[in-house]
Amino acid sequence: MSTSFSDQNYNRSVIGRSLVDLNHLSSETIHFIFSESLKLKYEYAQNKWSKQTQLKGLAALLFFEPSTRTRFSFESACVRSGVHPLVLDGGQGTSLEKGETLEDTVLNIEAMKPLFFVIRAPDEFPFMQLAQHINVPMINAGWGMKGHPTQALLDMLTVYEKFETVENKNILFIGDIKHSRVVSSHLQLAEKLNYQVGYCCPDSFMPQQASLMNPRLHLFNKLEQALNWADAAIALRVQKERHFGEKLNLQSYIEQYALTPHSVKALKSDALIMHPGPINYGVEMDQAITHDPRAVILKLVQNGTFLRQAVIQNVLNGGIFQ
Ligand code: NCD
Repeated sequence: MSTSFSDQNYNRSVIGRSLVDLNHLSSETIHFIFSESLKLKYEYAQNKWSKQTQLKGLAALLFFEPSTRTRFSFESACVRSGVHPLVLDGGQGTSLEKGETLEDTVLNIEAMKPLFFVIRAPDEFPFMQLAQHINVPMINAGWGMKGHPTQALLDMLTVYEKFETVENKNILFIGDIKHSRVVSSHLQLAEKLNYQVGYCCPDSFMPQQASLMNPRLHLFNKLEQALNWADAAIALRVQKERHFGEKLNLQSYIEQYALTPHSVKALKSDALIMHPGPINYGVEMDQAITHDPRAVILKLVQNGTFLRQAVIQNVLNGGIFQ
């Protein structure tokens, strides 16, 4: 397979059935997914969910990088959508150990005719090229540092559920912004849904200068000022596995950026406290924060299952991601 494609050079009809990034979704589509998700959530709470859903077929969930929440969330969403998930969890015990490439693994599993793929893979994985070459829709479940579209969508679904709009809301990221695929997807989503993005982090976690030119971006040095500004504060995990030898003074990070019962006093009374998980307690936040009435960390996980179910149903219905 050629690896010379740029990410822009794709076949729209195939990408149109996939969810690789958020650049290809319209604001109408995103709002449709939000309302479908909340409808599914309501039906589930009313026990109106049909447990007799007929089996529609199989889905291949390939997690080439570790995951707990996202994998279980997609698995739950598959089962609730009448799709049996076949899960590859890490490379252990598979042909990847014998040197097979991730692309070849995907092509071989495609031959078994799943209804769609859900894939978590490192940056080098040629998501866009594969989405052009194969005939099965692909859903990005975390792509290196490039994007994690369903996480950004479920974050904003939760903001939408609270405020009934996301427009002009101030969404603050605190911590390891440079290495975060969640932030990458939020920058795309903010363009579509028209919200503001704030960064509050040490210099070593600040992305490259060029990407800071975005007029939507608000940069903060002081946590207190940043929290004052925010309608939702999203703390990010320090991604030690992606630091590749970069040195971090953890103690000074904690002193300046950790969410503690004291620091969150600067947040508005109706703001949301979020974290995509997994949380390093004592680093990004104190465990006590999970008891703050503004914290919606497990609500994000719950909303994630319905959001992913809504995405899967749209993929099964032929895709609306043009
Ligand atoms: C994030 C991820 O894996 O990108 N978590 C998640 O999907 N729930 C963030 C992280 O790993 O820190």
